[in-house]
Amino acid sequence: MDLEVLNGLLRPKSVAVVGASDTPGKIGYTVVRSLLESKYEGPIYPINPKGGTIQGLQAYTSVLEVPGEIDAAAVVVPAKLVPQVATECGQKGVKGLIVIASGFSEVGLHDLEDQVVTIAHEYGMRVLGPNIVGILSNSDKCNASFAPFLPLAGSAALVSQSGALLIAMDASTYIRRVGFDKMISIGNMSDVDFADLIEWLDQDASTECVSLYIEGIRDGRRFMETARKAGKPIVALKSGVSAHGAAAAASHTGSLAGAQKVYDAAFGQAGVVMASDLNNLFDRTLALSLQPPLTGDNLLILTNGGGVGVLATDSAERYGLPLRFAPKDVQVELKKHMPEFGSAKNPVDLTGMAGRDWYQDSTQYAYGHSWVDGLVVLYCETAMTDPQNIAEGIKAAVDASGVKGKPIVVSFVGGERSEAAMRWLVENGIPAYNEPDTAVNAMAALREYARNKAKASNGFTKLTDVDEAKARAIIAQVRAAGDRNVTEMESKMVFEAYGLPVVTSRQATTEDEAAEMANAMGYPIVMKILSPDILHKSDAGGVKVGLESEAEIREAFRTIMANAKAYNANADIHGVVVQKMAPWGTEVILGSVNDATFGPTLMFGLGGIFVEVLKDVTFRVAPVGVEETLSMLSDINGAPILKGVRGEAPRDTKALADVLSRYSQMICDLADEIQESDANPMIVYEEGAGACIVDARIILKPRKS
Ligand code: ACO
Repeated sequence: MDLEVLNGLLRPKSVAVVGASDTPGKIGYTVVRSLLESKYEGPIYPINPKGGTIQGLQAYTSVLEVPGEIDAAAVVVPAKLVPQVATECGQKGVKGLIVIASGFSEVGLHDLEDQVVTIAHEYGMRVLGPNIVGILSNSDKCNASFAPFLPLAGSAALVSQSGALLIAMDASTYIRRVGFDKMISIGNMSDVDFADLIEWLDQDASTECVSLYIEGIRDGRRFMETARKAGKPIVALKSGVSAHGAAAAASHTGSLAGAQKVYDAAFGQAGVVMASDLNNLFDRTLALSLQPPLTGDNLLILTNGGGVGVLATDSAERYGLPLRFAPKDVQVELKKHMPEFGSAKNPVDLTGMAGRDWYQDSTQYAYGHSWVDGLVVLYCETAMTDPQNIAEGIKAAVDASGVKGKPIVVSFVGGERSEAAMRWLVENGIPAYNEPDTAVNAMAALREYARNKAKASNGFTKLTDVDEAKARAIIAQVRAAGDRNVTEMESKMVFEAYGLPVVTSRQATTEDEAAEMANAMGYPIVMKILSPDILHKSDAGGVKVGLESEAEIREAFRTIMANAKAYNANADIHGVVVQKMAPWGTEVILGSVNDATFGPTLMFGLGGIFVEVLKDVTFRVAPVGVEETLSMLSDINGAPILKGVRGEAPRDTKALADVLSRYSQMICDLADEIQESDANPMIVYEEGAGACIVDARIILKPRKS
């Protein structure tokens, strides 16, 4: 990262507005107005061919005429003029261009956009945009945008791919009371992208939490790498996750890998917390910018109302933080701060009689206790209490406890007095929400952040007992034979080269050969059609299972051949696969997609109806170490099945985790060749007995033209 250049772009000490105007209603007018109204302290240089003065400021006909240095130039001239402006800015020594103008790649004019970036880079400048609103920074009193005013001051930073949304969020910070120091519009991301800004904001002293609105990421791997390294929490709202990928998918895995799932996996692995909608983005940003992460699962809820206590308890379970009863010593102490009929379990019900003292004392005790990892304090407005007084009691308790690094969130349910008290709490560093569910969700964000961060190291170690050259030779043979699908036999050979446990399978081209192989392998046998033109073998009548004798083998061979010819008369038939029937075990599916944004991505789930109907699968961006693959095994809803249910022995999860990690290496090593792949089904046996892949499929990337 070129810190000096990015500082010049994002915290400019002087700003030129190229296309500045004196005509109200023009964007070039508004940007100058915004800078003046935000009380920007550096020099503002309006640039307009007419010169003269603009809004009382000396205007210049070109940046080249400006006497002083220019850090950033906000560009508000029509798109076709931007390359010329960029050249002049480069000659002037401007550090960065804030290209507000639209009319570039978003309308198909990619070349024009590329031209601007090329010119900028020639002069060592960076480009924000084009097609953006601009940048806003409270700590720099800089509104170089056409958003009407700086956001409510705070310690979050928003990076938004949508300009309109940024303006809307800017205005709503005052209603929602969530403070931002910076808002950066990123638009077409021709040059400066999310990763650049995460890196830059991570070192920015005024930013505590990075909040992202994302429509698309260009380089998913770089995004993950930068997010992983960031020392500050990142929360992201991703839109446009509905119809991606599935339509073009050829394999089972491909059809299950919607963008939502892949993004969820990638963000989790990178330590990024997801938000579900705009409200949630604000709520989570508030907690992450004011409170430390929740590093353990012991959440304690204090309340004066049973109803909100139960609602919050339900929410805690929903968001993956199920409540546990507090230990005896905690209960005994808390009992001292409530009437006889209160409850010191969890949630702790101080009852409607609770006034400031009980709130303050119980908060101070609970917050200071080592068993409590995080505290949620709920309050229902009563006629006997003053919400402001309760708020001050909570804050005093937190301060008096002397505890640091432990999160607390609050929810007050009531009227205007409660709203005012919550505003005061937020101003004093305690996130407060008017809905218990929102408060618990915010606490869950602090937990997700801690969990994601803990596992964001990945822990993958490259295996050496794999034969990449052999796998590549098999793929090369397939490519040499024409642009066709990889057969089951070939797929299995690639898998085998990576040490994946493939069931013994051989290719037979004649009935006699099939019989001879079956006799040598031993019964029962499975026989399958082998043809690059028949992908759905069962649909073609191309699979026979449980063959017990030579006679059955011979009959199956003839039937399969006849069925295949009837199914597709032009199919290129390579014979059949003769394979030993794998003993019964637990069916799972393993697969991969080469995601357009994140590259090779691994999928795991239980097989059969679990994948067909319930779509109970989980994803990770590859490669993944054994620890991460173990977390995949516990991610799926059917996880208890692997642990052994109804008296069944636990499955060999150790072997499974190893297979997943190997598989993830295979799809990364061969990422230039493999588009999608499936090991479906793979059978997993009892602990110590391993697993075996029964069927395999690889779909190659289209040839490079
Ligand atoms: N250098 C400096 N100034 C110049 C130059 C030049 N080379 N050439 C022309 N100008 C002046 C013009 O004379 C004019 O000033 P004036 O009002 O004194 O005459 C000013 O620059 C602007 O030029 P116009 O041709 O009047 O252009 P206009 O203001 O109509 O539009 C704009 C320019 C705003 C950049 C427009 O092309 C555009 O892209 N609009 C969309 C911007 C946008 O919405 N971006 C954010 C997207 S996100 C969201 O949607 C919220």
